[in-house]
Amino acid sequence: MAPPPATWHDAYPAVRRVLLPRRRIARRVRALSRQIARHYRGREITLVPVLTGSVIFLADLIRRLPLPVRLSPVGVRSYPGRSVESRGAALVQPPGDDLAGRHVLVVDDILDGGATLGLLLDTVGAMAPASLAACVLLKKRRDDRPVGVEPDFVGFDIPNVFVVGYGLDFDGRYRNLPDVCVLNQHARPTRERAKEARP
Ligand code: IMP
Ligand code: MG
Repeated sequence: MAPPPATWHDAYPAVRRVLLPRRRIARRVRALSRQIARHYRGREITLVPVLTGSVIFLADLIRRLPLPVRLSPVGVRSYPGRSVESRGAALVQPPGDDLAGRHVLVVDDILDGGATLGLLLDTVGAMAPASLAACVLLKKRRDDRPVGVEPDFVGFDIPNVFVVGYGLDFDGRYRNLPDVCVLNQHARPTRERAKEARP
C-alpha cells in the first residue's frame, strides 16, 4: 500500500499557528498589485527584489502587474546572521543593471529593524533612478525601529513576532510553507525569546 501523502505538519512540526492564511495573502497581494499598477500606469518599472525571502511574494506580485517590468535582484546579508534581529546589513549582491533613469521599486518580504531597506534605498538612491519606492509584504509593528524607513506599499502590519513561510525562513527552512506562520517556542530564535521573557 502506498504511504499516506506528506503533510505540512510532517515537514514542519514546529509550526505553532497560522498568522496569515494563504487566501488572505492572495487577496492582499491582488489589492497591492492594483495599487502599484495604478501608481506606475504608463511607465516601465524595475523591481529590485531582495533575495531570497521576497521570491514567493515577487512571483505572485509581478504576474498581476500589467506593466512592462524588469527585474534586478539584490542580495543582502543581515547581521548577526542566522537568527532574528539584524543589527546591520551588507550588500552581498548589488543590482546587475545600471538603474539610472529607471523607475525602481525595491521589494522585500518583511520590514523589521529597517537596516535592509535603509541600505537598499541609499544604494539605489545613489544610482540616480527616475523614481524610487519600496514595497514590503509584511511590516512589523514596533516603536523602536533602529532605522526609520517608510515603505510606500505595505501588505500587512503584523505584531513584532518572528514569522516564517511564504518565502520567509528560519535558518533556511520554511520558505515553501504557503501560509505565514509562527513557530513553537522551542524552535524560535533565542534573542526573541529572551526579549519576550522580559517583564
Ligand atoms: P531588517 O533589516 O531588520 O528590517 O530585517 C529585514 C530582513 O530580516 C528581512 O529581509 C528578512 O530576511 C529578515 N527577517 C526579519 N524579520 C523576520 C521574520 O520574522 N522572519 C523571517 N525573516 C525575518
Ligand atoms: Mg531578507
